[in-house]
Amino acid sequence: MLRLVAIGLFFCSAAIADEHSSPDALIRLVHQDCGSCHGLTLKGGLGPDIRPDALSHYDVETLSEVVLDGIQGTAMPPWRPLMSETEAKKIAEYLLQGELK
Ligand code: HEC
Repeated sequence: MLRLVAIGLFFCSAAIADEHSSPDALIRLVHQDCGSCHGLTLKGGLGPDIRPDALSHYDVETLSEVVLDGIQGTAMPPWRPLMSETEAKKIAEYLLQGELK
């Protein structure tokens, strides 16, 4: 059941997330698409809290790999088909800093 919900959300997300590169668009993507599992304020839902304090053990590289490749065997999907490595890195920076410059 959980898996079905996850797949459903994943395809919804796929429809929304095509070309994002402006900071505003990326921030919107994080709160809407990632927020569908992690909560609109990213403090956790189906997925865990991904606010800066919760992710402080990650560096930008590792975190962008988690975003690109997902976490196998869990509902955290790989985003590689939907975004570039540069975008994933910007998202990782945003998640770690809580802002995007
Ligand atoms: C379909 C639901 C879903 C979506 C959409 C989703 N996630 Fe996740 N995410 C999860 C789940 C579930 C986990 C926990 C996996 C586990 O058990 O380790 C997770 C884990 C994570 C983690 C690891 C957290 C930690 O403490 O190690 C990060 C970082 C993360 N997600 C970021 C994102 C980002 C960024 C996006 C949007 C690009 C996103 N997620 C979209 C479900 C989702």
